[in-house]
Amino acid sequence: ALQAVIFDLDGVITDTAEYHYVAWKQLGEELDIPFDREFNEQLKGISRGESLERILHLGGKENTYSAEEKEEFAQRKNEHYVSLLDSLTPEHTYPGIRELLLELQASGIPAVIASASKNAPQILKALELDSLFRYVVHPDSVPHGKPAPDLFLRGAEEVGADVKACIGIEDAQAGIEAIKSAGMIAVGIGEEAVLKGSGADVVLKDTKQLTLSFLERTLQEHSH
Ligand code: BG6
Ligand code: MG
Repeated sequence: ALQAVIFDLDGVITDTAEYHYVAWKQLGEELDIPFDREFNEQLKGISRGESLERILHLGGKENTYSAEEKEEFAQRKNEHYVSLLDSLTPEHTYPGIRELLLELQASGIPAVIASASKNAPQILKALELDSLFRYVVHPDSVPHGKPAPDLFLRGAEEVGADVKACIGIEDAQAGIEAIKSAGMIAVGIGEEAVLKGSGADVVLKDTKQLTLSFLERTLQEHSH
């Protein structure tokens, strides 16, 4: 039986993946490194510092700036991103998510957040979802970010769940890889063409179909 559901946050619980894109894109333009949504797929699930490195690398500028300048760029992006969070309200929660969290709570199945974002607690508060999660993994508490399995493994460990009885839910290629290398069943949210290649067991276009019975069926069909 299902022992835990481990959620990514940005792009799974709410549309903050889009806010990250908007904020990075603006920084990219300021640095003369324009990029599109296709490149942005490589930033999803990746930490702030590593995302900046990937953008600088895209522009051939990985050796152009000092550590202090990079720190300033990352901070500038985050300030822009956090200003976009000001408008977040519970209504911005993706369809079906609150209902699923209530179902999990009623069944005693822990819901956990395994996000790379340091802004996760603030977002959960703004959405009024914080009390529905049993545990939020802090990204700095594990050695490796996604696609390494660390965040998901820590999440399972904190709630005493066996990885084989966990489902991870992700919108990012790096996140799907992380779930699979943790030995869990991976549900992708987004485009099949983008997420199947990373090893998703099932891909849903959006969160509307995420119900407890769907997750229980998925675990049954995909575990061996
Ligand atoms: C991930 C996002 O959840 O968190 C990435 O998918 C983001 O786009 C990363 O870079 C780090 O977020 P933050 O809020 O700590 O800069
Ligand atoms: Mg995400």
